[in-house]
Amino acid sequence: MKLPHHLTIKNSHLHINGQDCVALAEKYGTPLYVTSEDRICEQFRRYKTALSSRYPKVQVLYAAKANGNLSILRALAKLGAGADVFSSGELHCALDAGMAPEKLLFNGSSKSPADLRLAVEKGIKVSVDSLDELHHLDAAAKAAAKVVTIAFRVNPALEVPTHPKIATGLATSKFGIPYKEIPAAYSEALTSENVKPVGLHCHIGSQILDTEPFARAAEVMMRIAKELTEMGVALEFIDLGGGLGIPYHHDTDPAPTPEDYAAKVVPVFKAGIEACGITPELWVEPGRSLVADSTVLLTRVNSTKSAHKRFVNVDAGFNLLIRPAMYDAYHEVIVANKADAPLSTEYTVTGPICESGDILAPDRKLPQIAAGDLIAVLDAGAYGFAMSSQYNSRPRCPEVLIHGKQVALMRRGETIGDITAAMERPPWQR
Ligand code: LLP
Repeated sequence: MKLPHHLTIKNSHLHINGQDCVALAEKYGTPLYVTSEDRICEQFRRYKTALSSRYPKVQVLYAAKANGNLSILRALAKLGAGADVFSSGELHCALDAGMAPEKLLFNGSSKSPADLRLAVEKGIKVSVDSLDELHHLDAAAKAAAKVVTIAFRVNPALEVPTHPKIATGLATSKFGIPYKEIPAAYSEALTSENVKPVGLHCHIGSQILDTEPFARAAEVMMRIAKELTEMGVALEFIDLGGGLGIPYHHDTDPAPTPEDYAAKVVPVFKAGIEACGITPELWVEPGRSLVADSTVLLTRVNSTKSAHKRFVNVDAGFNLLIRPAMYDAYHEVIVANKADAPLSTEYTVTGPICESGDILAPDRKLPQIAAGDLIAVLDAGAYGFAMSSQYNSRPRCPEVLIHGKQVALMRRGETIGDITAAMERPPWQR
């Protein structure tokens, strides 16, 4: 199997960033998320360089929803990243991690009054998702005697090649304002004293392995930008949304790079702004492609069983990685302590959750497996821990970060006490 360069096989063991996965699992226990900070930084730099070598005014905002650990946000903040934040929680974390407020965009299709007040108070730009939200934001800014700068989230009505649950710019999607209604939305915002429309934002979907749809979205955005400029909107930034998909099937998926993305999209952007006679910043918001392949989820085999199929029962399930159950997503698996053994037997890797759908990897050719073996689920860094739960009252596992030759926890494992800590005893049960 093709592996990215931070994953290697030495002495039959899988290594990440030079660290032996078998030793990490022994030291920290399983299940365990292990992340290469170096890989994340490398991917961020690739985006930044690919875009800014073609156009100087570029901001790369990390989509914090993909993996919100503060250590990851901190590493990216140090490289100058901003963030797409989708909740007050993500906003607090991004600021805590040292990201500059002016490099944050508060996104979301259902922001609460408290979310809007927080954005106003912290001076964060807001991507406004509806006219109703515009009115609420205007009122919140007025009450605080502040002016809030905004973009509108455009629904470009584009079909894209990805799982329907993660296509976000379909005409029928819940996100954004239909592109035909966008000029009217800006007209309205221009009349407001407390809201200043300076940006334009879209997102078409996630896990897209072709650069073409991004170029199509950019074309829609540039047509709108022209219309807005003619209306007198002074656009300071155009945010083209999330980044590329990643090759979850290592040997067969296409693997477009940030270079490919920039080569396809930046010319459309540049032609568009030239036609408008403006030089706004170009913003992008990659999540998955910055963090997905940085991380493996290590999980121990509890037992094997030959029934209708050969099952391998491991200690991580959809409580820790829900993508296979939720989107039928494919993740490569490697037996980390037998990483170069022949792939002799077909197994279905199943988690410990009380649901038939708790399958991490169906029908995979793997080496002969026994209880105690260690399985690495690859490409688990995006929407992995971030979407985890305590279902079946299972404490979430620890996360370890590797930086050069240094290894440390970036999150301790939860305990049963953490699960019950927020539970209250109603008075009649005292
Ligand atoms: N910006 C906005 C406004 C978004 O909604 C998203 C993702 C991103 C940026 C980042 O997109 P990316 O570069 O990661 O493709 N849980 C799903 C993915 C949901 C993505 C939602 N929005 C999964 O595990 O595949």
